[in-house]
Amino acid sequence: MSIRNAVIPVAGLGTRLLPATKSQPKEMLAVGKKPIVQYIVEELHRCGIERVLFVTGRGKSSIEDHFDEDPDLIRTLRETGKEDLLEELEYERLGVHFLYTRQRQQRGLGDAVLCAEHFTENEPFVVALGDSIIGRHKPSPIVSRLIEAFETHNAACAIAVETVPTDQVSMYGIVKPATNTDVFEITDLIEKPKPDEAPSNLAIAGRYVFAPALFDAIKRTGFDHRGEIQLTNAIRLMLQKGMKIVGVKLPADEKRYDIGNFESYFETFVEFALTDPVYGEKLRQHVKELFKN
Ligand code: G1P
Repeated sequence: MSIRNAVIPVAGLGTRLLPATKSQPKEMLAVGKKPIVQYIVEELHRCGIERVLFVTGRGKSSIEDHFDEDPDLIRTLRETGKEDLLEELEYERLGVHFLYTRQRQQRGLGDAVLCAEHFTENEPFVVALGDSIIGRHKPSPIVSRLIEAFETHNAACAIAVETVPTDQVSMYGIVKPATNTDVFEITDLIEKPKPDEAPSNLAIAGRYVFAPALFDAIKRTGFDHRGEIQLTNAIRLMLQKGMKIVGVKLPADEKRYDIGNFESYFETFVEFALTDPVYGEKLRQHVKELFKN
């Protein structure tokens, strides 16, 4: 069975990226030539997704504007002989159907995903976090691999994971693998553990496939000490109910770029700009010159 629905939670406030995010969503920050969410939508389209629900919040309306078709802009580009720029707007014609709903209160990622219950129509669905790009200049097929693992293992959830250094485990959900293989069963998972409590160095990497059973688990998940319902804790409840959860490792050439703070945003922007197929070479020369002074 193919999975056609995906949910992109974009309701977070982006406080770690102020003032850049004072009046624009962090998911709309540009990395190289495109805003972050455009990379994610292109990745999902490549993996067969036809309908995308954005779970938004206050101040996120520019995401809706970005994915709207803009006939006036297209006409102006044609009339002024800037046809080459039309290619850059190809995403408008991908044929993906966009829907939007609001998370009214900031009550965590689990609560944001719960807003998608009706949208998913009781079918398995993908969740792709709105602040992570996977792969550089080439959409990653990780979601296709998650769907395959979800189906072949008859799992209730499949999660993409990446290896992180021990001093970073407290920034992520960390999984405990049953085997040291690229696709494995998860026997436990914990949200943002202290390094000495982490069951491994395998961090949840912002791409998931879920059976509809997730929604009941979210409803049974309590608030954490920050007043949030954590998605990781809901998955843990599924595991405790005997459901199968599988992990799929991201390969080395499909690195995850997390745009959660300025350090990672600057690194990501620089890496994408320096390797841009058109502007990269000239920029590399420029940077070399800068380092000489
Ligand atoms: C969320 C998830 C966490 C995951 C991370 C990936 O955390 O709760 O399990 O590892 O995304 O980016 P957040 O970054 O929203 O704090």
